[in-house]
Amino acid sequence: MFTPTALPVSGSKQDFYASLAQQLSGLLHGEPDAIANAANMSALLYDLMPDLNWAGFYFMRGGELVLGPFQGKVACVRIAVGRGVCGTAVERKASVVVPDVHAFPGHIACDSASRSELVVPLVKDGRVLGVLDLDSPNPARFDEEDREGCERLVQIYLEASDIADGSFGL
Ligand code: SME
Repeated sequence: MFTPTALPVSGSKQDFYASLAQQLSGLLHGEPDAIANAANMSALLYDLMPDLNWAGFYFMRGGELVLGPFQGKVACVRIAVGRGVCGTAVERKASVVVPDVHAFPGHIACDSASRSELVVPLVKDGRVLGVLDLDSPNPARFDEEDREGCERLVQIYLEASDIADGSFGL
């Protein structure tokens, strides 16, 4: 059984994400199930990344985002493309870093404790299959290094998981 190892938060973010990527690769190794991997990845990130109050996935189903595996408080189930931070990341096919959710027009508040947010789209073969969404109770919790680090984690998830079979795409 895989046991997450606590990561030092005092070193560089690059080192932090390198260790997290290694642990994620180990956790997902040999398992192609996209839901199981999303569930374990959410748990790993929630456990090891400091200052998160929500970590999880939305998947594209029937042209809109639908809630997937996550850790944190209950969340809104459906988000239209172009709405909120998650729907904006889908529309742009690019990660969105929001230092202050109150200043983001159309932000969808699932947990009132959230102050900042990072959303990374799951893009495979040019199609957006969903998003990874991370929320923090701290303002400006996420910077460009977090974006890069989390984009790498999403790549590991996409490479391990069998989700380009037509059942998740737009
Ligand atoms: N805040 C997100 C909605 C999802 S929750 O944060 C879990 C948004 O604006 O898209």
